[in-house]
Amino acid sequence: MSSIVRVEALSKHYGSNGVRLEVLKGIDLNIEEGEFVAVMGPSGSGKSTLLHLIGGLDRPSGGRVWIKDRALNDLDDKGLSQLRRQQIGFVFQFFNLLAVLSARENVAMPLILDGVKRAAALQRAEGALEAVGLADRKDHRPAELSGGQQQRVAIARALVIKPALIMGDEPTGALDTRTGDEVVNLLRQSISQERRTLVVVTHDARVAAHADRIIYLKDGEIVDDNRLNSGERPLAAPVSGEAS
Ligand SMILES: Nc1ncnc2c1ncn2[C@@H]1O[C@H](COP(=O)(O)OP(=O)(O)OP(=O)(O)O)[C@@H](O)[C@H]1O
Ligand SMILES: [Mg+2]
Repeated sequence: MSSIVRVEALSKHYGSNGVRLEVLKGIDLNIEEGEFVAVMGPSGSGKSTLLHLIGGLDRPSGGRVWIKDRALNDLDDKGLSQLRRQQIGFVFQFFNLLAVLSARENVAMPLILDGVKRAAALQRAEGALEAVGLADRKDHRPAELSGGQQQRVAIARALVIKPALIMGDEPTGALDTRTGDEVVNLLRQSISQERRTLVVVTHDARVAAHADRIIYLKDGEIVDDNRLNSGERPLAAPVSGEAS
């Protein structure tokens, strides 16, 4: 197995003039290609910060991050955003869809930003929406969709670039249990079919139970790192078609 994410002595602190908040205190971490990793831990322990540093959304105070042997530290802002656009799909708690755009336009956006022509991007977006069971909602705006549907649009937007790595920050946090299960199953399917890697921050033990590995953060440090025996977790249920 080869490693897709490598993190060495990663630290992040905020503040100056004596008030210094150590949010991450020297994290070492290796994530293998194809793994589903859940990151858990109390509020304020640094989970989102870690995710943002791994995903190149923020810069560390110290230490290094590699994605597939590319050192994020060595990239300028342009290089970093290009790597994000091409390799990493993000899914957030509150979906982060653009309200004035249709589902299809939202999903096409990362492709358009990466230079794909609009017509081709919209066509690929349609395929991605189909894959998450939302073909019949492609012209709806986010406000016209349920929370679970909005999150599926966000997943389609993350997958449309065919990322090597998918990162979720509480992707089920705003959803009810059943809808949350559907979303986790969808994410799991998307990685097992394409040998992608999935890193999900979650408070929800039900979500973590689907993972191959659970990392616990506390006060900016990894205090536990457990690989789950695949026999212990239930197999992903097939995602049902769009219930309309
Ligand atoms: N821009 C910032 N400036 C100062 N402090 C920050 C900043 N961003 C985060 N922090 C602090 O860093 C710590 C870790 O924040 P982080 O968002 O990573 O926690 P978390 O584990 O994701 O928590 P939650 O489960 O509540 O989402 C918190 O104490 C937070 O207040
Ligand atoms: Mg957080």
